[in-house]
Amino acid sequence: MRKHLFAFLIAAFSCVGSAGAEDYPAKPVTFVVPFAAGGPTDTLARTLAEPLSAALGQSIVIENVAGAGGSIGVGRAVRAAPDGYTISVGNWSTHVVNGAIYALGYDLINDLEPIAVLPSSPQLIVTKKGVPADNLGELISWLKRNQAAVGTAGIGSASHVSALFFQGKTGAQFALVHYRGAGPAMNDLVGGHIDLMFDQSANSLPHVRSGRIKAYAVTNKMRLASAPEIPTVDEAGLPNFYIAVWHGLWAPKGTPPDVITKLNTAAMKALAQPSLQKRFADLGQDLPEPDQRIPAALAALQKAEIDKWWPILRAAKIKGE
Ligand code: MLT
Repeated sequence: MRKHLFAFLIAAFSCVGSAGAEDYPAKPVTFVVPFAAGGPTDTLARTLAEPLSAALGQSIVIENVAGAGGSIGVGRAVRAAPDGYTISVGNWSTHVVNGAIYALGYDLINDLEPIAVLPSSPQLIVTKKGVPADNLGELISWLKRNQAAVGTAGIGSASHVSALFFQGKTGAQFALVHYRGAGPAMNDLVGGHIDLMFDQSANSLPHVRSGRIKAYAVTNKMRLASAPEIPTVDEAGLPNFYIAVWHGLWAPKGTPPDVITKLNTAAMKALAQPSLQKRFADLGQDLPEPDQRIPAALAALQKAEIDKWWPILRAAKIKGE
């Protein structure tokens, strides 16, 4: 009798679990953006939220949890209930770099379930309008003669790591000013309070187009189709300085597979919209082919990037705080 009661209880509980996945999403879904509002990760999350929520049939709430190079926001998502209602939006820096430089208290691979690969963006080397350099060579000479301030999105962010690699490659030295995201850093670049940034084209290109900042090179092999006037790093005299900041969506470990499938299907539907694809292309963002947007592709990409970058980052002795 007791055995039967036990079996009944197990069956009842598993029914509750699967009913939850069937009904998902029954309430708004929170996207945790690990940087301040107004930067590239935040803008991507907000741009995607509208078509994705239409595909899911539920609203999406954006929660900015900034600080420590995005590691606090990712931690918030890792520790949330694995029910599909708290999703980690992140990028190469938050889901690869931070594991090599911070004592995170969570495991970037084992504590998260991949959902979808989102677009990647090369960076632009950009300065405030008043910097008197007309090309990258002149900019490097100017940096060597002046006390410049370079803004980053936080220790370990893509903008920070790029700045350190640039120092190593060119010998230019400058002060680093860490913000809680590329949004506030860009505000200060436009305002002339800092001199330079290595910033994703998605964030910086609109300001370059409006003439508020100057662009010297794109960290890509090819020029951007939407900004062909900006030379590549190879053309500008900084060969092989390629950096592409890819993005993704993850759920806390243990999120039911049906829920992951629903989220991926909704993301795939959103990413397939021509208007969204045009917007990405205008901002220099590169969207992988559909078969490279699935959870297994994100798992493989993240693992390959960890294998590639952790030895480089550890050798560079970059330390989070
Ligand atoms: C980064 O530099 O890692 C991100 O661009 C920061 C941000 O999205 O604000």
